[in-house]
Amino acid sequence: MKQEVISTKNSGNRELAKTLKFNLFDPKFNANPYPTYHQLRSEDPVHRYFVGGDWIVTRYADVKAVLKSGCVRTDDRPKSIHERNKYLQKKGKNLNTLAYTTSRFLFYMNPPDHTRLRALVGKGFSPVVVERMRPRIQEIVDELLDKVRHQESMDIVADLASPLSVNVISRLLGIPKEAQQQLHQWTDVLSRILDPLVSLEEYEAMNKATEEIQEYLRTLIAEREKDPQKDLISHLIAAKEQNDRLSQNEILAICTLLFGAGEETTGNTIGNGILALLQHPNQMEQLKREPTMIQNAVEEIIRYDSAIQMLTRIATDNLEIGNQTIKAGEKIVLCLGAANRDPAQFPEPDELNINREPNHHVAFADSIHYCLGAALARVESQIAINTLIQQFPNLKLASDQLEWRKSIVIRGLKTLPVSFIK
Ligand code: HEM
Repeated sequence: MKQEVISTKNSGNRELAKTLKFNLFDPKFNANPYPTYHQLRSEDPVHRYFVGGDWIVTRYADVKAVLKSGCVRTDDRPKSIHERNKYLQKKGKNLNTLAYTTSRFLFYMNPPDHTRLRALVGKGFSPVVVERMRPRIQEIVDELLDKVRHQESMDIVADLASPLSVNVISRLLGIPKEAQQQLHQWTDVLSRILDPLVSLEEYEAMNKATEEIQEYLRTLIAEREKDPQKDLISHLIAAKEQNDRLSQNEILAICTLLFGAGEETTGNTIGNGILALLQHPNQMEQLKREPTMIQNAVEEIIRYDSAIQMLTRIATDNLEIGNQTIKAGEKIVLCLGAANRDPAQFPEPDELNINREPNHHVAFADSIHYCLGAALARVESQIAINTLIQQFPNLKLASDQLEWRKSIVIRGLKTLPVSFIK
């Protein structure tokens, strides 16, 4: 068996590491994971966690190297759903739809199946397609802000970030307005799929939500087969690579993935970004004065408080990372949020600095699973944040009690109340 050496750097202070105590499921960690990340990175950067024995990797160089390594595969969540499915089938229940659908989620797939599906889907997300959406995204942002302009306050999450991201991904896929809210509620249930601890009841709820999403999408796909439009569903139906086509079940799974991935992450990025700017008034002022800095600013926001905090990989061969040997078959949790605050890569990492350059964060991961929607997420966040702060220059945080979503993987606020009177 081959053994890959990923980093030869010393692995922190092993004496301190023995006393390292933290709980990823503690509400304090949920509210602010960054002090724990710093402690882990400096005391035990390749840490064996007491729950499940997974490895937790927090240094930028190590995270990046694992993402690029040929000795890892993706999380085997679809396999564990399949195992639970076998158990439930004995009791006359099943998770069939969830098991199949997640097996076609690109971020759980490996080559060659991943290569095939990504090639068929990828063209629908080209920078040209995304650029073409700019005027429509601007219109949606303006419409949403018009609705609250006469008020004195708003909730950034409910009034802007969430409806914008739902609307844009729906528009791209070709989902009509009247179905968007219902789809959003179903994908909200399904988003638990990313979390490491999921109960059987939650799996059943996700299976039901997936069945409902797909019942709706099946009718829409049939309509597009008869009457193709300029949307992603029609593109997926027509997509062809060397005589290879997507089956109807694959199209259903991909649309489910794209709707979920597209609305959740971007919405959270906009919320996290406005909060970060409110907490760094000098950066907010600079961006208001220099709106052309928005590309840099959004990149920095995505680094500073990443909407996806962790990814899982499984070692396919023995790996040596920072003096630790990870054996084939062991699980590696890559803390993107920790890597993005690594002082060895980002000077003053806990400062939001919209002038930061270079800014090679790993919020969109790397290598073959690099986020398919990165261009869309960037454009949407740029338009939403710039329009908001230009049109509402007196934004102020209207609560000191912020509630974060209960997830260690997805980082986003439940609400972000702001006032905007002079
Ligand atoms: C700021 C917002 C976003 C963040 C932080 C983000 C983050 C990520 C990350 C970290 C991955 C890698 C997963 C892995 O390697 O296991 C990923 C993959 C993916 N993302 Fe995003 N994402 C964002 C927005 C979007 C949007 C808007 C879409 C779709 C419209 C999208 C669709 C996808 C898809 C389909 C994949 C799987 C790619 C593959 O495995 O080949 N993402 N994203």
